Amino acid sequence: MTEQIEIREIKKNDAIGLSKLFPHWKGNLAEKKTKKTLKSKREKRFFAVSNNQLIGHIKSVLGTGRHKHLAELFSLIVAPEKRGKGIGRKLIERALKEMPAQIKIVVFQVQADNKPAIELYRKIGFEQYGFLEKGSMVDGKLVDNILMKKEIN
Ligand SMILES: CC(C)(COP(=O)(O)OP(=O)(O)OC[C@H]1O[C@@H](n2cnc3c(N)ncnc32)[C@H](O)[C@@H]1OP(=O)(O)O)[C@@H](O)C(=O)NCCC(=O)NCCS
Repeated sequence: MTEQIEIREIKKNDAIGLSKLFPHWKGNLAEKKTKKTLKSKREKRFFAVSNNQLIGHIKSVLGTGRHKHLAELFSLIVAPEKRGKGIGRKLIERALKEMPAQIKIVVFQVQADNKPAIELYRKIGFEQYGFLEKGSMVDGKLVDNILMKKEIN
């Protein structure tokens, strides 16, 4: 039987599932982030859900003021055992579909050595617009980021 995967917005009781996707988040960080998102008008989180388990996540944040036509995507992840089944693609597509009409450009930063993520974003129509040397700190080391964008609406 094919696995049923639903993409849905965050709910109040998702903090435990969220912390399982991001095990390096310490203490009650997942709970704090869940509460913050649920209160926010600018931030959304989407989960991929299978058999009541949260197996994937993406966050979108809308810009304000002079940047109110921009949105940024963050924290895309699919549980390791569920990768390669189109779930990452579904999460990005849902986040894009839910962008309000004022959003014209969606941006995203990805580590320059993260081939799976770069390929996935390219397939969805994102293109590189910049390169941020030393853009991320990973295990105490600075690594380069590729800056990607897609025009929408
Ligand atoms: C990046 C990530 C989210 C991709 O999720 P996924 O569900 O496995 O991706 P999908 O199955 O939707 O893949 C869609 C496309 O992405 C590309 N892709 C995905 N994994 C790939 C890999 N390991 N190597 C090369 N291309 C890959 C392919 O082009 C694929 O298209 P195809 O199915 O037609 O070949 C997942 O690998 C992940 O969670 N990685 C760890 C966290 C991470 O790096 N997040 C990125 C943000 S910093």
